[in-house]
Amino acid sequence: MAKNNKVSMAVVRRLPKYYRYLSDLKEKDIMRISSGELSKLTGFTASQIRQDLNNFGGFGQQGYGYNVEDLHSQLGKILGLDRTYETILIGAGNLGQAIANYKGFLSAGFRVTALFDKNPKMIGLNIRGIKIHDIDELESYIEANNIEIGIICTPKEGSQEIADILANNGVKGIWNFAPTDLKVPEGVVIENVHLNESLFTLSFLMKNSDQGAL
Ligand code: NAI
Repeated sequence: MAKNNKVSMAVVRRLPKYYRYLSDLKEKDIMRISSGELSKLTGFTASQIRQDLNNFGGFGQQGYGYNVEDLHSQLGKILGLDRTYETILIGAGNLGQAIANYKGFLSAGFRVTALFDKNPKMIGLNIRGIKIHDIDELESYIEANNIEIGIICTPKEGSQEIADILANNGVKGIWNFAPTDLKVPEGVVIENVHLNESLFTLSFLMKNSDQGAL
């Protein structure tokens, strides 16, 4: 838990990257790492890393660095990855199926148990063993299965109504891929993923590195 509740979003956005590198180090049986070495891996400065981790109590020891397994486990707890989330996905088209097909989300603790779509031709089909349900069953399914996370992969039209149903039935987190900003009540967290934005950043960086400005 954070020492105070005011951890900035910039810090929060760096934590998954630390966690990913620590997972790699753990896989390679590396036992300890200094903030300097973590800095070389992640591209953040050593003092940035120390400051970030100090928000949660600081896990390093002077002259020793960080114990990889311990820091990995602590960060996992901080990120809420020490448990499984019951998850559903709405919009079982190209993107929705690609996400449902990825096994890595389950091993990270996000268990997608059902897909929902409005296209009658898709209802009843399975993607990697996960059934596509009629969107009309969304409300009752959430209630009966204590769903905590909803992944929205529909077009932007209709996505707000879906977010409303999710929020009104107890879903606490929405992973939104629809290209629009959704409104959710207090107590519901929304995380938008817009691949285009990342692509546009790439294009900006390419354009400016050509001009020698970066
Ligand atoms: P798609 O057309 O293959 O799939 C959309 C699916 O949503 C269809 O199966 C359709 O029947 C279903 N659907 C539409 N309205 C619905 C509703 N109200 N309730 C339930 N199901 C509904 O489209 P694709 O390529 O999978 O893209 C889906 C959405 O994701 C689009 O809005 C697209 O712009 C967006 N997208 C976002 C990306 C991102 O990085 N955020 C990347 C790629 C796509």
